[in-house]
Amino acid sequence: MEEHSDAFVFFGATGDLAYKEIFPALRVLIQQGHFDVPIIGVAKSGWSLDRLKERARDSLKHHGGVDPESFDELSARLLYVDGDYQDASTYELLRRALGAAKRPLHYLAIPPSMFATVVAHLAQSNCAKNARVVVEKPFGRDLASAQALDRTLHEYFPESAIFRIDHYLGKEPVQNLLYFRFANSFLEPIWNHEHIQSVQVTMAEEFGVQGRGKFYEEVGAIRDVVQNHLLQVMVLLAMDPPASSDAVCIRDEKIRIMRAMRPLEPSCVVRGQFNSYRREPGVFPDSHVETFAAVCFYIDNWRWAGVPFYIRSGKCLPVTATEVFVSLKNPPHSVFGEAVPSQANYFRFRLNPDFVISVGARIKAGGEAMVGEEVELIAHEDAADNRLLPYARLLGDAMRGDPTLFNRQDAVEAAWRVIDPVLGNVTPLHEYEPHTWGPAEADAIAANIGGWHNPRPCEKLPTWIPRGF
Ligand code: BG6
Repeated sequence: MEEHSDAFVFFGATGDLAYKEIFPALRVLIQQGHFDVPIIGVAKSGWSLDRLKERARDSLKHHGGVDPESFDELSARLLYVDGDYQDASTYELLRRALGAAKRPLHYLAIPPSMFATVVAHLAQSNCAKNARVVVEKPFGRDLASAQALDRTLHEYFPESAIFRIDHYLGKEPVQNLLYFRFANSFLEPIWNHEHIQSVQVTMAEEFGVQGRGKFYEEVGAIRDVVQNHLLQVMVLLAMDPPASSDAVCIRDEKIRIMRAMRPLEPSCVVRGQFNSYRREPGVFPDSHVETFAAVCFYIDNWRWAGVPFYIRSGKCLPVTATEVFVSLKNPPHSVFGEAVPSQANYFRFRLNPDFVISVGARIKAGGEAMVGEEVELIAHEDAADNRLLPYARLLGDAMRGDPTLFNRQDAVEAAWRVIDPVLGNVTPLHEYEPHTWGPAEADAIAANIGGWHNPRPCEKLPTWIPRGF
């Protein structure tokens, strides 16, 4: 049985991620009643503790609501260390703030370029002993830097203390991909190249970079969401059944499928940039960073031979929605002499902002003729308001030392191996108008399956759901 961490330290306390995700997650963890540890924010903003508390209150007001009881407890537990991450005295202050805590958890909600500096200082200041460290994606910028980062982390922390967080893995609808696939018997016989024509995953965001230009310039869409969130979704769709739900079995199956993914070729990638991106604060006026990417992956194994997996993500698209669309092949023979629609049968998994699992089918339309119409059988529909926040789930797991929903280094490296050949500016960058589905060149990639499936906007979205950060 793993020991519970006895302090929660978060670097980047005054930043966007803390505002949109960490404070709301802390509220949930406190409400659940097992988070009675000091909570220490670290940042270099020249703030006071009171100002951080105000920020926390404001964060909750906009992301889930302020519940006075849990807010009072959060306030009472909150401490703040203001200081430069490069300065040893910041960590002396942190050591003092940790007081009697012996097994802190350090969450690095900061740009990846700062990870190495912070972990080295944590070790030198005696804050790393028996501690856990949570690092935010992307883990490195490519395979070589991911390996270098891992070496650095391992200088100070054993593997069992390193938690590589990808909040997509904490989302209920994403976990449901695994559950729905393997808790039912009807999917597995058809879940292969004989019955599936193609798989699409679209992560569309209506908003732009929302003041995160500086961070975004370091990453771009491929590193920000394709290499991690969307590849993880693809892995859950494609992996073989694990023998059980324990961390080792699931992570072993994931790595097997990742190793079968074909490294990307430039001809399978279209990159785009919305046309006002270069005027965003923090963005270089001649930036070649993509805000849109459309990619076609292949998995070279028995189950998936020849099945294209299309992945697309972009900022400033017409809607905010993440959706998986699995197209089944048409019946082998047209009994009713109808022109068969290109996507008669499908599975649709809507992952964000609402949650839907549905199956597309054809039924006979009323009347004399044997002609059909399309219907959608909804297995599940949820406006998303009653789900456990992904960060609450994951940070709670990390505090308990449960690694199941975190990335293992071999999986991180396998993902970079697939992505590495198209990083940098090896593919052209196409401009697109905001609130369109990206550059026209992206359509060509999916032309042979009848084009992209564009998710519809959400009709029943609760107002407080965070819209990206
Ligand atoms: C983050 C990316 O990891 O995920 C953001 O850095 C993106 O750019 C966000 O907006 C999307 O997450 P969600 O949960 O809102 O789909």
